[in-house]
Amino acid sequence: MSLWNSCRLRGRNLLWALTLLACGAGSETGMAREHPIIIAHRGASAYLPEHTLPAKALAHAQGADFIEQDVVLSRDGVPVVLHDIHLDSTTDVTERFPKRRRQDGHYYAIDFSLAELKQLRAHERRNKNGQAVFPERFPAGPGLSQIPSLAEEIALIDGLNTSTGRKAGLYIEMKASAFHRAEGQDLPRAVLEVLEKTGWDQRTQEVFLQSFEPEALRYLKYELKTALPLIQLLGENAWAEDGAVDFDQLKTDEGLDEIATYADGIGPWLMQLYLGVDDGNYLSSDLAQRAQARGLEVHPYTFRRDQLPPGIDSFEALHRLFFLELHVDGIFTDFPDLSRQFREQLLP
Ligand code: G3P
Ligand code: CA
Repeated sequence: MSLWNSCRLRGRNLLWALTLLACGAGSETGMAREHPIIIAHRGASAYLPEHTLPAKALAHAQGADFIEQDVVLSRDGVPVVLHDIHLDSTTDVTERFPKRRRQDGHYYAIDFSLAELKQLRAHERRNKNGQAVFPERFPAGPGLSQIPSLAEEIALIDGLNTSTGRKAGLYIEMKASAFHRAEGQDLPRAVLEVLEKTGWDQRTQEVFLQSFEPEALRYLKYELKTALPLIQLLGENAWAEDGAVDFDQLKTDEGLDEIATYADGIGPWLMQLYLGVDDGNYLSSDLAQRAQARGLEVHPYTFRRDQLPPGIDSFEALHRLFFLELHVDGIFTDFPDLSRQFREQLLP
C-alpha cells in the first residue's frame, strides 16, 4: 500500500488531524488532503481552451490541487495532452491538413507526427456544426496555443511548483489504450516512460493515473508495476465509451470488489451519485458509500457552473451536496477557483 493510501483520511477529528501530521500532508506537498481534492478538469477550462498550457497555468494560479492531463500518442509515439483521439473539435487541423482525414471523416492524432501536431493551434471546443460547445466561455475563434506534449506540460507544472512554492499534482488519463494498442502503440508504457524521465513516477502522493479501461489499469499495476495510485473511471454503457467495458457490472458490489483489487479509487460521472430531485429532496445512489467501504476514493466528474445537473439550481448547491452529503474525496471541475472557494466556505 502506498504512503498516500495509508494516509487516506475521511473524518474531521483529532485522530484525523494527528494522522495528517504523521503523513506530512499539507506541508511538503501543500495539497489539501484533509478535504476533497480539487482537480482542474483539462485545466481551468472554463476560462481558457482545454488542455492548453495557458489553461494549465491558470489552474495552478487558481489553487488546483491536481491538474488533469488527457493523453494520446502521436504517430511517432510521443504522449501529447489532448482529450480526444481525434483532432477535429479542438484544433485547426481541417485548415492546415485538409487531406489527412480518414475515411470515417475524422482526423486522428495518431496519424500525425509530433512535428505536425505542433503546427496546429488549439482552440475552444466546437461541436460538429462549428459552434462553441460552451458559448459563454473563451471565444471559439482561431486557436492561440500549440498542443503540449506531456513532457512540456510537466515542465510547466514543475516550474510553477518551484516558482510559486505551491505544489500541484498530475492527474493523467490514458485515452483509449485499446485503440492505441490496435494501432501498434503502447500508451500506458509511453506515459510511464515520461514520468520516469521527469522523476514523477515515484511521487505517489502527487500523481494519479486514470482510465475508463480496466485492462489498462491492470496492465499498469501488474505488468508495468507502477506504484502510482490508479483510478477506475466509470461511464455509462450507453455512451459506448471504449466499447467492451461493462460499467453497469463495475458498479455492482462484485464489480467494486474487483476494482479494489487493482485500483485505489473510482471516478464516476456525477449523475451516477446524484439521481435527481423528488419533492424538494435530493436523491442519491449508494455508489460512493459502497466504494468507500471498500477503501476506494471517489472522484466524480465534471463540475460545471454552466452545465448544472437537473434539479440543482446553483454551483454552490452542487458543491454542498457532493462535499457535505455525499462526502466525496475529490472533484473534477472546470472552475478550480470557484470549487476551491466553496471548499473553503463549506469545509473550513
Ligand atoms: O477523467 C475524468 C473525466 O475527465 C472523464 O471525462 O471525458 O472529460 O475525460 P472526460
Ligand atoms: Ca479525463
